[in-house]
Amino acid sequence: MPQLFSPRADRRLRIALGLAAIGLGVAGAAGFAFVRSDRAWGVGIAAPQPIPFSHAVHAGGIGLDCRFCHAQVEHAAAAGMPTAETCLGCHNRVWNVTAQFAPLQTALALDGAVVWRSVHRLPDHVRFHHAAHVAAGLDCTTCHGDVRTMPRTVKAETLSMGWCLDCHRQPPVAARRPDESFLHAGIEVSPLTRCSTCHR
Ligand code: HEC
Ligand code: HEC
Ligand code: HEC
Ligand code: HEC
Ligand code: HEC
Repeated sequence: MPQLFSPRADRRLRIALGLAAIGLGVAGAAGFAFVRSDRAWGVGIAAPQPIPFSHAVHAGGIGLDCRFCHAQVEHAAAAGMPTAETCLGCHNRVWNVTAQFAPLQTALALDGAVVWRSVHRLPDHVRFHHAAHVAAGLDCTTCHGDVRTMPRTVKAETLSMGWCLDCHRQPPVAARRPDESFLHAGIEVSPLTRCSTCHR
């Protein structure tokens, strides 16, 4: 068979193909690393809020209890968010110094809630329940990090399915129920790792 390319062109083509393959490999590895990285899950990234609220000032400095503003955390699936009234209890009187509190007055006037942006929201097909975890003796810091030191609220953990399962497969001893796993036809089934526990 006659040679289609000159030896030189052939060499160039081989080098180009080789480089392209390496390039693809590198891009793939970088993509994979990013998808697995904390940053891709939004860890450490704050969301813009209507008011520059700081946990470091309120939970850290003043020492307010988490339940002062997240009142449902021991009783319901959702922790609950503070209303304008919760803030204005203090900020109406003494510290209402600047225009940054305008969104509170607006919410109050419109009889609406303050629109806080979430950095933790899970996809709709996943269900989570605060009261169950708090009752099991888990501290807020286990999942949210040290919120008391955060000037802007960020996610401390990925909240990925793998992260949930890491704990559900082997919950801390204190949080384990005696009847948590049972033998079923010789196979150990833990309700905590069943799909339907977390998925609707
Ligand atoms: C004075 C009221 C107040 C107190 C006290 C307070 N928080 Fe908050 N918290 C807020 C507000 C307002 C937001 C929404 C703005 C933001 O994310 O910074 C918020 C947001 C959060 C979020 C993020 C919610 C989301 O959807 O992403 C977490 C987690 C949280 N708080 C945990 C805590 C913990 C833990 C404590 C106790 C150490 C605490 N908070 C004490 C008012 C409060
Ligand atoms: C086992 C892990 C875990 C623990 C413990 C935990 N949280 Fe959460 N928290 C989450 C997850 C996951 C979400 C997102 C829930 C969703 O989107 O349905 C969340 C969301 C929140 C939110 C946003 C509002 C909401 O409920 O969606 C607040 C506020 C909050 N947590 C406060 C707290 C406080 C205060 C404590 C401690 C009393 C606490 N959390 C303990 C995992 C946890
Ligand atoms: C128990 C009283 C109290 C409550 C309730 C409270 N605050 Fe504050 N807030 C303070 C004090 C005290 C300061 C600090 C003032 C200072 O050091 O200059 C402050 C400071 C602030 C600041 C100034 C900026 C900063 O980071 O220093 C903002 C903004 C703010 N609060 C927003 C809020 C919001 C939003 C809420 C409701 C979710 C709220 N506060 C609830 C007492 C309170
Ligand atoms: C640090 C450990 C830990 C992490 C992290 C954790 N869980 Fe759990 N979870 C538990 C324990 C312990 C229980 C069992 C509580 C009990 O016995 O009632 C539980 C129970 C549950 C339940 C059952 C609640 C009910 O109604 O009884 C759901 C749903 C759930 N977890 C969802 C999640 C999801 C979704 C995540 C991740 C976003 C998560 N959990 C992360 C420890 C954890
Ligand atoms: C302990 C809680 C928990 C259990 C148990 C669980 N999941 Fe998930 N799952 C999650 C969370 C949280 C997410 C959302 C974050 C993510 O995509 O990793 C999720 C996401 C998913 C997704 C979407 C993935 C994507 O890329 O969007 C699928 C599919 C899924 N789960 C299937 C399953 C199946 C099948 C089972 C049973 C074998 C299961 N899950 C058990 C917590 C759980």
